[in-house]
Amino acid sequence: MCGIIGILGRTPVAPQMVDALKRLEYRGYDSAGVATLEHGHLTRRRAEGKLKNLEHRLDGEPLAGTIGIGHTRWATHGRPNETNAHPHAGRRVAVVHNGIIENFNELRRELEGHGARFATETDTEVVAHLVDHLMSTGLGPVEAVKAALPRLRGAFALGFIFEGEEDLMIGARRGSPLAVGYGQGEMYLGSDAIALAPFTSTISYLEDGDWVVLKRGGLQVYDEDGAPVNRPVMKSSASAFLVDKGNYRHFMSKEIHEQPEVVGHTLAHYIDFAAERVVLPDLPFDFTSLQRVTIAACGTAYYAGLTGKYWFERFARLPVEVEIASELRYGDAPFAPGNLAIFVSQSGETADTLATLRHAKANGQHVVSVVNVATSTIARESDVVMPTLAGPEIGVASTKAFTCQLTVLACIAIAAGRARGNLSEEDERRLVRALVEVPRHMTAALALEPEVEKLARDIAKSRDVLYLGRGTSFPLALEGALKLKEISYIHAEGYAAGELKHGPIALIDETMPVIVIAPHDRVFEKTVSNMQEVAARGGKIILLTDPQGAAEATVDSLATLVLPHMPASVTPMVYAVPVQMLAYHAAVIMGTDVDQPRNLAKSVTVE
Ligand code: F6R
Repeated sequence: MCGIIGILGRTPVAPQMVDALKRLEYRGYDSAGVATLEHGHLTRRRAEGKLKNLEHRLDGEPLAGTIGIGHTRWATHGRPNETNAHPHAGRRVAVVHNGIIENFNELRRELEGHGARFATETDTEVVAHLVDHLMSTGLGPVEAVKAALPRLRGAFALGFIFEGEEDLMIGARRGSPLAVGYGQGEMYLGSDAIALAPFTSTISYLEDGDWVVLKRGGLQVYDEDGAPVNRPVMKSSASAFLVDKGNYRHFMSKEIHEQPEVVGHTLAHYIDFAAERVVLPDLPFDFTSLQRVTIAACGTAYYAGLTGKYWFERFARLPVEVEIASELRYGDAPFAPGNLAIFVSQSGETADTLATLRHAKANGQHVVSVVNVATSTIARESDVVMPTLAGPEIGVASTKAFTCQLTVLACIAIAAGRARGNLSEEDERRLVRALVEVPRHMTAALALEPEVEKLARDIAKSRDVLYLGRGTSFPLALEGALKLKEISYIHAEGYAAGELKHGPIALIDETMPVIVIAPHDRVFEKTVSNMQEVAARGGKIILLTDPQGAAEATVDSLATLVLPHMPASVTPMVYAVPVQMLAYHAAVIMGTDVDQPRNLAKSVTVE
């Protein structure tokens, strides 16, 4: 996962940048580079592989500049070689980037039309050429970046320096994190407080949509609309980097907000963005020879598995059994040898999930794990590990690991669909394009937080809450209820919307909030009928839908949260965001210990 450092210093900054990049190594990378100004000219040193290769290059060809940007690259678009390593440069600008520029193909064609010559396979290079092009129309560096940012689609963090500009650095954040650091006559830019720790503990985190103009004497932050804003200046305790909450009050909130970034990283691991294809690691089995898939997991990971079932059955026409690990473990489910069993776990240490993995292995299943902790026991004991790249999840309630699990399961299901001939190449491209846009839709969903917070006040007053959904929104209803229960201690249940009239409808009265997850998909109208049943009994409906759903839902609701329109294949990832925020804010209002709710543990190593 890419790391960014920028230094406006007083002495040569290249060695300091390499030190900072070492502190970002934990994010994972496969090439690195730095750029400085030598007598006003942009000069770069880059190297494939570990930082010692970059250090070696710098030993042979040192850089003397006192302003610079540096980067550790975790390859997404293009191979991990020196050419694709950051910083990327146009004639007047060098840029480092973390994240994904979704519309890079479109921009690249446009800029080639203006004469730009591309040297790399990366999405990042379009940013350098775009800013260069804007500067060639007469704009200064600040105006050029300001004009370029709205043209970029995706979730990203960026750092820029400019030819001839010894006292100017610009940073921008949309989706991916970025912090600024304050020194004595020096200023810094970094992916996190850990990168900045050797230089300063006085930092500000940029907020989503912010961009910042840094000079040695100070900085100015602007919001998305270009209005000057102040962001809180704080003291970081980056030495304890895993327990740094940044600007957030709780880890859970931080982790909810990290989702555009970590889902982007996870996608980058499984998707060839240029070819719009899913690329899985080598598998010891062939999807065409499978009769059945078993998915086993616990809690939130189980709900990710339940969602995966819809995708496998639709994309690959493969029957799927999803099992609660603690039930499968002691049940008598027969396994036909040679089939596939997938185990989903954030920690990779959950005792029941591990036991079922061993049980499935003993019964001749091919064992694939979808895990977040790559060194965990479940990962080690699997035939194939498909990592989720959510990064450390500290809050006990799982949030970003869940959406990353969904991302990986969707990728496996698409690959299975292609292999089994159920999806055409064009189907795969369409589904991949939808996945690539998830981080951006998540950013839009995060912007609903003020509305969600208001709704949480009603939820916090309730004794019971019902969540309803159909299709892939059904597992999300279960997940929403679990999230609310575990951190706010409010009783909640999730139901398949069609099940309402088979029992739970008896609970509905004017005191009962009913959260309906209903994007405008092929089952929308059916869900609307279930909402009518709730409304007729005085239930307080909170509807999560999209603009078309909001226009067509003819039911009086307490509130409607309107998410962007998106293909039905990706709604669970994006709708998870408001569902998580609602539970989070209800818990904050209730005053519970959000990150460490009573009786719960992050890693459940007992059965
Ligand atoms: C809920 C939650 C738990 C876990 C479950 C499985 O927010 O975090 O339900 O999902 O304990 O844990 P892992 O994924 O580590 O196997």
